Amino acid sequence: MEFAQHLSDHRVSEQERTKILQNPGFGNFFTDHTAVIDWSADAGWHNARVEPYGPISLDPAASVLHYGQEVFEGLKAYRHEDGSVRTFRPGKNGERINASARRLALPELPVEHFVEAVRQLVAVDQDWVPSGDGEALYLRPFMIATEAFLGVRPAREVSFRVIASPAGNYFGGELHAVPIWLSQNFARAGHGGTGEAKCGGNYAASLAAQMEAEAHGCPQVLFLDPTDDFSVEELGGMNVFFVLEGGTLVTPRLNGNILHGITRDSVLQLAREMDLTVEERKFTLDEWREAVANGTLKEAFACGTAAVITPIAELRSAEGTMVLPETTSDSVWGSIRAKLLGVQRGTVEDTHGWLTRL
Ligand code: PLP
Ligand code: COI
Repeated sequence: MEFAQHLSDHRVSEQERTKILQNPGFGNFFTDHTAVIDWSADAGWHNARVEPYGPISLDPAASVLHYGQEVFEGLKAYRHEDGSVRTFRPGKNGERINASARRLALPELPVEHFVEAVRQLVAVDQDWVPSGDGEALYLRPFMIATEAFLGVRPAREVSFRVIASPAGNYFGGELHAVPIWLSQNFARAGHGGTGEAKCGGNYAASLAAQMEAEAHGCPQVLFLDPTDDFSVEELGGMNVFFVLEGGTLVTPRLNGNILHGITRDSVLQLAREMDLTVEERKFTLDEWREAVANGTLKEAFACGTAAVITPIAELRSAEGTMVLPETTSDSVWGSIRAKLLGVQRGTVEDTHGWLTRL
């Protein structure tokens, strides 16, 4: 697919960009361009282009605004020491947006078009890829239903876009263990629902719980499955892992409610290669509490594109705080994080072919 290029003079001055890149935070600043591909039921995918970043014009009746027909992705582009830029497993995001699109009755975008749209945007905005430790250019592909029609049915007009935002630590400042809030009033997803799709509605549904979390000093909220012995599902925007005595790594199995995290999948692969025992299974809140009480829980950590790998310091809830063991320098999370970031940053050999060069 050919992308037309309608490039702008830089929207943001070089001086301003340099200042932004010194402390990008997460999701606050956007690059100069956006990649777009339109779709209609009659014409299929067409009009691929890179155009200046800016507000988009939508009819007030566009169905995304009423029925939330939307899916999105998150991935990163990393700057290597030689100055080159690579994205991490973009094909996986392309496959996942299609799984989400099927659930939300949106059209599937051929994975090669997805990857090419990402590549085109990163290529024109590569000056925006930061190079600091733990920093990257966060890419946000998304698909929205743009047809103006108020009947409840799949839209016949859709737009796929990619925007980009330089990113540092999602939790702000230096890497540190974070407290997590246990949501007991809200579930994130239900069986047969949209839990494993990456759609905006899931995140809207998590916000009331997220507000509760923040009121208790926690930057993320943990969701359980109240219909399955209160088993652990995931955080609002991250998967979770537990390290048990003897080096066993446990993560909740993919039960239809939780996101098939690409970081989760990468952590599982790296852990197996590090000869850790890996278990994808049901892990209940009771088992977690018991493992803390009897000392067999060694670590808990969150993982995701935005979060990378971040240790969990404690689990807070209406019933009190469960403090987790302090993290140590020879932690499992630390060695997996070093390996994963090393591959992403080009300092550890990419034996899996996870990186795509511009
Ligand atoms: N779970 C949720 C709800 C998320 O939003 C994310 C982030 O995308 C993840 C898990 C981690 O997924 P990934 O590792 O693909 O970023
Ligand atoms: C990501 O990690 O890409 C997400 O979408 C999670 C969100 C917390 C930003």
